[in-house]
Amino acid sequence: MSFTLDNKIMGKSIKKDMMKQKVSRVETITVPFSLGEIKENIIISTKSSEDYRKENLPKQELLYKAHGLDRTAGLQKINETFLDLFGRKYNEESGMMSEHFIMFASLAAKQFNPKKILEIGTYKGFSSLVLATLFPDSKVFTIDLKSDDDKFKESYNRRKPEERKEFLKVRNKYLKSKPNIEFIEESSLLLTIRKEFKDQFDLIWIDGAHGYPIVCADIINSVSLANSNTIIMCDDVFKNIEESDAMYDSIASFETIEELIRSGIISCGYFLKRLGISKTVNDQYIGYISLNTNKIPSQINLVQN
Ligand SMILES: C[S@@+](CC[C@H](N)C(=O)[O-])C[C@H]1O[C@@H](n2cnc3c(N)ncnc32)[C@H](O)[C@@H]1O
Repeated sequence: MSFTLDNKIMGKSIKKDMMKQKVSRVETITVPFSLGEIKENIIISTKSSEDYRKENLPKQELLYKAHGLDRTAGLQKINETFLDLFGRKYNEESGMMSEHFIMFASLAAKQFNPKKILEIGTYKGFSSLVLATLFPDSKVFTIDLKSDDDKFKESYNRRKPEERKEFLKVRNKYLKSKPNIEFIEESSLLLTIRKEFKDQFDLIWIDGAHGYPIVCADIINSVSLANSNTIIMCDDVFKNIEESDAMYDSIASFETIEELIRSGIISCGYFLKRLGISKTVNDQYIGYISLNTNKIPSQINLVQN
């Protein structure tokens, strides 16, 4: 079965990403001549996304290595998987794409064989489909709000009934395309009382609401549902952000993860979400979390240096 890749901008976060990519091509330099009336530095565009990608790649590859992953093998695997599913390769400039797919694929390439996967935040089921394909022997449980929940209707361009109808049509197509996907239609907050899930998941992908209070609960619940071998990955970890909100962009996941590290409960490596972006304008990461605090040195943060 082949799918059309959803290139549409999905929400504020992606919109901001795109805006940042444009801004990231700008570098500030001091000019060695008189500026006359102009008293400020002139901003001249000097670097392209490709320049940033080249600059960031070696550091990101080292980060993969430090966590026992091989980015080259992951990239090859995700390219094969995407070609098969969507007829095109991974390209981080395309709306829905980011480094988490290469991370999933590098886990698959090293024969990490999760039996149960939990995804918080289904959206259209795009990443559920990719996970179910990369890990065919697993069962992927993916959870999202009820479609009549106000928060569902008010986010991600789903307000109008006809938009929602179209959205649900696409989502159902993705979710039904693989027998190993199970959709749970409820708030992820319900995971707090779903005792039957305890210790069950080998891989957890946190990609629901990105701000307080939900992402904080999602991270804490994921830790409760994990065992010592579970890998928890958390999308859109902003270390720095001017304005946080509850659904799209927030510092909440970073603050929660850092507090859990400080308390000796988890370790976390922060992977750059996209490589073709300057660090000065983009502080957005994917958290790679383990309960085994000896397994992943929490101090590793090569992309920062
Ligand atoms: C960023 S999208 C998920 C994208 C998806 N993982 C993918 O890559 O294709 C976030 C989703 O989280 C859902 N969400 C927000 N709050 C939630 C909650 N409390 N429980 C479950 N899902 C939630 C939203 O409805 C939205 O569909």
